[in-house]
Amino acid sequence: MTTLLIKNASLVNEDQIFQSDLLIRDGKIAQIAPSIETAADRTIDATGKYLLPGMIDDQVHFREPGLTAKGTIASESKSAIAGGITSYMEMPNVNPQTTNLEALEAKYTRAAEVSYANYAFYLGATNDNIDEIRKLDKNQACGVKVFMGASTGNMLVNDKETLARIFAESPVLIATHCEDTPMIAELEAQYKAKYGDDVPMREHANIRSREACYKSSSMAVELAKTHGTKLHVLHLTTKEEMALFEPAPTLAELAKKQITAEACVHHLFFNADDYETLGSQIKCNPSVKEKSDQQALLQAVKDGLIDIIATDHAPHTWQEKQNSYFSAPSGVPLVQHALLSCLEFYHQGIFSLELVVQKTSHAPALRYELDRRGFIREGYWADLVLVDLAKPYTVTPDNTFYQCAWTPFEGYQFGSTVEMTILNGEVAFENGQHSEQRFAKRLDFDRQ
Ligand code: DOR
Repeated sequence: MTTLLIKNASLVNEDQIFQSDLLIRDGKIAQIAPSIETAADRTIDATGKYLLPGMIDDQVHFREPGLTAKGTIASESKSAIAGGITSYMEMPNVNPQTTNLEALEAKYTRAAEVSYANYAFYLGATNDNIDEIRKLDKNQACGVKVFMGASTGNMLVNDKETLARIFAESPVLIATHCEDTPMIAELEAQYKAKYGDDVPMREHANIRSREACYKSSSMAVELAKTHGTKLHVLHLTTKEEMALFEPAPTLAELAKKQITAEACVHHLFFNADDYETLGSQIKCNPSVKEKSDQQALLQAVKDGLIDIIATDHAPHTWQEKQNSYFSAPSGVPLVQHALLSCLEFYHQGIFSLELVVQKTSHAPALRYELDRRGFIREGYWADLVLVDLAKPYTVTPDNTFYQCAWTPFEGYQFGSTVEMTILNGEVAFENGQHSEQRFAKRLDFDRQ
């Protein structure tokens, strides 16, 4: 374990930005003070740079086990670290699916061997695994994932009685994918009749429709209200759905919420006009919708209707993405460029830096009850990201780490650069290079 001293950084934390030194010892933040002169193994001059708590991404698909042609825990967590994401929570739609406790523990074992970032995993719900869900220890999984709409991996839970039991009995937070599958199936048939297999990609916004989203999201919220469930509705995409949620602009208000809402980076960054240039690269479920929805989501982040920003990082191979509409899989690789995208909203005057940090780090840490992460506080794990807000960063194949080797951001110039990522007190990424060592830990929860 190293001691690290960061000098003259602009810390962004808990609604404040202030100049400070920061000392790291034994993986944790030992001291935050205007001037620290303690000797350390390494001193980092952070003059002119901003120090943020690392992003905590509560929704990623890293494809292991079974789908490793698309990505692996190693390749995608390495990409996350390069993008300033220090912790991730990973989804169960792999092969075999993570729908029992044995498969869940196998993932933790694998991550301990290969992950570059801190990790936790969801247990996936099915129409018949309520007994496994009941057996789950509160600190064993970040949550239970319920696909209330079908997407990659055929994990739809559509049995009404089962849904009610899951919402009533899950020992941990439920995270839902909300889209009404019968409505989508009907629209798919209509568009197939009109276009055959060559449905224009832009129609994804209409096929995976706003009505299908609203119907399913409102059902999830109703179920949670009926059963007193801790519910987190993932990747919301429409202005209409915003009416389903209560505003919680501050963390104190967030802490009181039973039902929280999330937006993902791509739904904030892209809109339906972008299908023209990016086509299947931005085909994802729920779909990227209209510009007015994008604007409503950005506003909802500011108003506190949206509590958390995540990625839904979902890599597919370039070859798969070249297929026509019905066979091009849905999903976008995002973890390396997620924090940079949020900082872009800062450069555009839409979000403050404090808001970016709240939605990408404080709020997920609080919502998922992580043990001592997500804040720059003495005694907390030193998961930090040093960014240069005045240094542009252009995305090229050479600086992209995803195994699938493509990104919808290729050629885009971000206004900021991730200079360094510190994980559990160690420099994990610096000047475009990863450390050869891995410093990741299993995420602990502080749940009673
Ligand atoms: O676009 C998506 N891709 N949405 C999901 O819900 C799943 C994901 C995937 O695993 O490919």
